[in-house]
This record gives sequence, structure tokens and C-alpha cells, in this order.
Amino acid sequence: MASRMGLEIMYEEAKDAIEKASDLRELDQIRIEYLGKKGKITSVLKSLGKLSPEERKEIGLVANKVRQNLETDIAEKQEELSRLEIERRLALESVDITLPGRQPVFGNRHLIAKVIQDITNIFIGLGYKIAEGPEIELDYYNFKALNTPADHPARSLQDTFYIKRESIHPSDNDILLRTHTSPVQIRVMKKQGPPVYIIAPGKAFRRDVPDPTHSPMFHQVEGLAVDKGITFGDLKGTLEEFTRQMFGKDRQIRLRPHFFPFTEPSAEVDVSCAVCRGAGCRICGTGWLEILGAGMVDPNVLMEVGYNPEEVSGFAFGMGVERIAMLMYGVPDIRMFFDNDMRFVKQF
Ligand code: PHE
Repeated sequence: MASRMGLEIMYEEAKDAIEKASDLRELDQIRIEYLGKKGKITSVLKSLGKLSPEERKEIGLVANKVRQNLETDIAEKQEELSRLEIERRLALESVDITLPGRQPVFGNRHLIAKVIQDITNIFIGLGYKIAEGPEIELDYYNFKALNTPADHPARSLQDTFYIKRESIHPSDNDILLRTHTSPVQIRVMKKQGPPVYIIAPGKAFRRDVPDPTHSPMFHQVEGLAVDKGITFGDLKGTLEEFTRQMFGKDRQIRLRPHFFPFTEPSAEVDVSCAVCRGAGCRICGTGWLEILGAGMVDPNVLMEVGYNPEEVSGFAFGMGVERIAMLMYGVPDIRMFFDNDMRFVKQF
């Protein structure tokens, strides 16, 4: 059993060890050795019961005092070691707060994405909703339902990439990359009854050899309005409003008769040149620049989707996004949009 003397020696040893401890882990080992559940001091305190009352009082007092002192010593050392540890780390991981900040790299929207957004915002303002369809499309939606059967000569103008051809002659189930956004018209009308006011932005694909004005992948924004009593005048008024908002108040549009299988009558629409305002100049040649195709939805198309052409009528249009972007921003070659040259991409 420990004597008063033994306890004092124990305390001196512990104090010595605490002073010499070089890190927090070592200090904790010492704490466990003396004050832990099976520690030296703890054992003395636990065995006090076996002593005579006088001894218990004396040894108890000393042992408790030793415990208190050790607790204080350890706490003080702990503080000192923690402070040293922080200083050591600060020295290692020093931060120079006088350095200039690092500028994060900001990306920017691609010009095509920006132009699509500008176009769609105008039509959203006119009450249209955005619709989407798949880029990998069935022959049925891309051609057949748009009044363009397998043997129709208009198909040769829109040759495309066939993913899988079931037969030598095109069938409704052939899978292809859509040649325009017009199949979205069919998908929307098959899903809902009139009235319909939608725009459908997206990619289209055609078998074209790339040159300054052709790319095998490009973007269109489709528009479709079907309701009671829609007229060609509504189409013209809508396109005029769009042109003014998109290109400026002083710009004119011109409708030239054209043919599309899925609209009747049909037109190609030109916008007056910003430079010569229709007179003809070096930039535009004739004074007018073509931006879209449009027309009144063919009754055959309305019947195909289950609408009654005696009750409702509609107009549709499809505009080329790259075309419009090139006109508005003076981009001389369509391939620049897809070259991924950052000097070009970052300008807008
Ligand atoms: N889909 C036609 C094209 O890509 C454009 C168009 C859309 C024409 C809607 C009329 C109506 O050339």
C-alpha cells in the first residue's frame, strides 16, 4: 500500500514526465498512466477502504491532493502543447494575405444558345409554350405525317442520316436523324387537341457537305399555331412582330411564294438588310436575307393528327438559327460555330 512518501515520489515522477512530454499524445499516455481507470493514483484512491481510519484520512488527503495537482499540471501542459502545435502548423501552412485573389474563370453561353434564347423569349412573350422532340426520329414523324410520303420528290432536298433502314424503300418505322424540327408539330398535335401555340427549338441534320453556309448539323426554331379562324394574316403579323423585336423596329419582311409539302400556301421569308434596307448592297446582294420557311398548315397534316380542318386552321414556320446568328453578328462562316475555337466562342 502506498505511503505518503510513496505518493510524493509518484507525484514528482509524474510531474517530471509531464514537463518532458513533447506532444499531446504523449501527455495523454501520462494521464492514463496516473489518472486513468487503472492508473497509479486511481488505484491508491480505490484501495483506501482497506486502510485503518487514520491511515485512510492521511493517505486519502495526500492522494486527492496529488490527483488535483496532476490534473492542473496536465491541463496547463495541454494548453502549452496545443499552442505550440498551432504555431507549428501556421509556420508550415502560412497564407500570404497580401497576395492578389485568384480570378475564377467564367464561361459564357455559345452564340447559338444565346440566339435560341432570344428567339424563344420573344415567342414566350406572345403566349407560346416551348415543346421538344427527339433528334433521332421516325420516318413517320419526320416525313410521312408531314404529307411527305416515301416517293415524294421533296425528300431528296432533305436527305439525312438513316440509323437503321428496315427496307430498301423507306418505311414509317425507319429511324433517322430529323431533317427539321417540324416533326415536333406532329408529336404535339397527336398529344393534345387545339388550340396549340408552341415553339420547338432544337438540332436538325442533313446530308450536306460543309461549306461557309452549310453544316450537316444545325439548329432550327419551329413555330406552330392552330386555333379557330387562324389566317395567313395572323402568320404575317406574328412574323412582323418577331422581326421587329429580334432585328429592330425599322426592319421589314418579305414573303416569297414557295413550296413545302406540309403547308399550303407556303412562303419563304426574307428580312430587309440592315445595311442597305432593301436597296441591295455588297453584304446582301438583293437587299433581302432569307431567314425562315412558313405557311398555313396543310389540311392533310391536320387530318393526320385527328384535327378537323373544317373547324380549325393554323400556321407554322421554321427558322434557321445559324442563319439568323450570322446575320445579326456578322459571322462569315457557319463552321465557326462548331470549330470550338475559344477566340471565337468567347466574343459573344
Ligand atoms: N421545315 C422546313 C424546313 O426545314 C421549314 C418550315 C417549317 C416550313 C414550318 C414551313 C412550316 O425547311
